[in-house]
Amino acid sequence: MMMHKPSLMKMLTALLLLLPLSIAVELDVRGSERQCDYKPKLQPRPHSVSILEFGAAGDGKTLNTIAFQNAIFYLKSFADKGGAQLYVPPGKWLTGSFNLTSHLTLFLARGAVILGSQDTSHWEVVEPLPSYGRGLELPGGRYRSLINGYMLDDVVITGDNGTINGQGSVWWDWFISHSLNYSRPHLVEFISCKDIVVSNLTFLNAPAFNVHPVYCSNVQVQNISVYAPPGSPYTVGIVPDSSVSVCIENCSISTGYDAISLKSGWDEYGIAYGRPTESVHIKQVYLQSSSGSALALGSEMSGGISDVLVEHLYIYNSFCGVEFRTTKGRGGYIKGIVISGADMTNVHTAFAATGQSGSHPDNNFDPNALPILQQITLENAIGTNITLAGNFSGIQESPFTSICLSNISLSVTSSSCSFSTSWVCSNVSGSSQLVFPEPCPEFSNSSLSCSSSLLDSDGQAVAL
Ligand SMILES: *[C@@H]1O[C@H](CO)[C@@H](O)[C@H](O)[C@H]1NC(C)=O
Ligand SMILES: *[C@@H]1O[C@H](CO)[C@@H](O)[C@H](O)[C@H]1NC(C)=O
Ligand SMILES: *[C@@H]1O[C@H](CO)[C@@H](O)[C@H](O)[C@H]1NC(C)=O
Ligand SMILES: *[C@@H]1O[C@H](CO)[C@@H](O)[C@H](O)[C@H]1NC(C)=O
Ligand SMILES: *[C@@H]1O[C@H](CO)[C@@H](O)[C@H](O)[C@H]1NC(C)=O
Ligand SMILES: *[C@@H]1O[C@H](CO)[C@@H](O)[C@H](O)[C@H]1NC(C)=O
Ligand SMILES: *[C@@H]1O[C@H](CO)[C@@H](O)[C@H](O)[C@H]1NC(C)=O
Ligand SMILES: *[C@@H]1O[C@H](CO)[C@@H](O)[C@H](O)[C@H]1NC(C)=O
Ligand SMILES: *[C@@H]1O[C@H](CO)[C@@H](O)[C@H](O)[C@H]1NC(C)=O
Ligand SMILES: *[C@@H]1O[C@H](CO)[C@@H](O)[C@H](O)[C@H]1NC(C)=O
Ligand SMILES: *[C@@H]1O[C@H](CO)[C@@H](O)[C@H](O)[C@H]1NC(C)=O
Repeated sequence: MMMHKPSLMKMLTALLLLLPLSIAVELDVRGSERQCDYKPKLQPRPHSVSILEFGAAGDGKTLNTIAFQNAIFYLKSFADKGGAQLYVPPGKWLTGSFNLTSHLTLFLARGAVILGSQDTSHWEVVEPLPSYGRGLELPGGRYRSLINGYMLDDVVITGDNGTINGQGSVWWDWFISHSLNYSRPHLVEFISCKDIVVSNLTFLNAPAFNVHPVYCSNVQVQNISVYAPPGSPYTVGIVPDSSVSVCIENCSISTGYDAISLKSGWDEYGIAYGRPTESVHIKQVYLQSSSGSALALGSEMSGGISDVLVEHLYIYNSFCGVEFRTTKGRGGYIKGIVISGADMTNVHTAFAATGQSGSHPDNNFDPNALPILQQITLENAIGTNITLAGNFSGIQESPFTSICLSNISLSVTSSSCSFSTSWVCSNVSGSSQLVFPEPCPEFSNSSLSCSSSLLDSDGQAVAL
């Protein structure tokens, strides 16, 4: 026994010498970008009630909006007692939209399905978000989302693979036939909240977006599956919007439009509101996008998007793999982005950046508000059955700069009516190394170092 003490001391001393160094390196190199490495501690809630105690019926027909509202109202009183859990047992729980409260866990048992009502009168119409100035799809208000958080703290939506099913087909039909009076609702929306976890659930058939944190901080989305069929118009998986410190990890998302989309407000409204999306870490995600992009940044990005690290990205059967979108009038920036380790199969366009994307909220946008797109690293990507390797079309008055392509190998399947080249480039500059097929000459700036994904906050490579 006596012998152990000195050796333990030695080990501790060695550890103490090493620890500050390795922490410092981590902070220096990637800093707050590594959101997924900080796991929030999920404390069990000291109180739990079942939705059954509030008169809910899981027959798929009874409308349970009042039961959810009453349950949440009751659980508010536990906020200063360690919080509480609302348990949803197996069954089909039809509901209109309802609000959450702070220090709450909404837990969906295996076999529990929350069904969104298909009757618009069960969905309140609310003001547009200030950073958008209007509904995304129609001027004016928008339907409130199915499950809402407003100015909350410490909220968990989780379960044993329970399901939130938006029954979105009616909304898709109304959208396609132009019979909507307001912009479509989302499934889960958090506005101005902090310390949010969404995990261990399946999301089906959202009217529009599935998970939409806006003006939030410390958001963890882990281990969820999201599905909406091909052809469902503009259905999007997870949309971090003007939010900071976001982790998206181990999710499987297949949607009609984008699977993951980072945003930060629309033209003059987004510029005035000025809330960026930053410190986002996306890791180990399986994405499919039928008509949009598996991973999109923009096109609404007027508050700026920066410090984004994406690792272990699997993309299949998609129109576009990774796309940066903006247009004149947006202002804002997209910079300090690292996409490292993408594996793509059956993707039309692997990488794209466009400066001519999307419309304007109204005629009051400033056409001279030019967006900036710079310091983007795309590295360690492989692809099979890719039609177009890259399509970079920048803005003449504000070209895309410092775009680094490194260690990319794409097997490009040329279609019969094909263009002669695998890369399309204009108004863009950067560097490349070990990229196949050979990229356009715009990517041949040899003084721009692109040798490592380890960037500091200025986008300069760190020598280790
Ligand atoms: C839900 O929260 C909003 C604030 O975001 C509030 O205006 C509304 O009245 C709440 N609805 C209910 C039923 O509590
Ligand atoms: C992920 O979620 C599934 C159910 O949706 C569950 O069986 C599994 O244990 C979860 N894994 C982790 C690591 O959370
Ligand atoms: C989770 O539920 C969905 C939908 O019911 C199902 O397709 C999927 O296989 C389940 N996943 C796990 C890990 O149980
Ligand atoms: C839009 O409003 C019109 C007129 O009030 C109504 O007939 C129609 O059902 C509404 N559309 C939807 C999808 O609710
Ligand atoms: C997901 O479920 C697994 C298995 O029950 C559990 O270990 C894990 O803590 C859960 N994860 C989250 C983030 O809720
Ligand atoms: C990742 O997600 C899948 C499917 O949801 C689940 O089966 C698996 O347990 C998760 N693994 C980890 C490490 O979270
Ligand atoms: C190649 O990918 C395209 C989608 O870009 C798909 O339509 C086609 O079926 C794929 N070909 C093969 C042989 O998988
Ligand atoms: C490249 O992207 C632009 C939009 O930025 C689009 O107009 C053009 O058709 C695309 N080119 C190809 C070959 O897909
Ligand atoms: C290049 O990328 C491939 C595929 O992601 C990866 O396996 C390999 O380690 C990378 N090579 C270097 C030198 O980073
Ligand atoms: C930049 O883009 C414009 C169209 O927006 C095009 O006319 C011009 O030729 C491009 N410049 C270069 C250098 O490719
Ligand atoms: C090449 O990269 C360097 C370093 O980022 C930059 O200062 C320079 O303007 C670039 N040159 C061109 C022609 O883009």
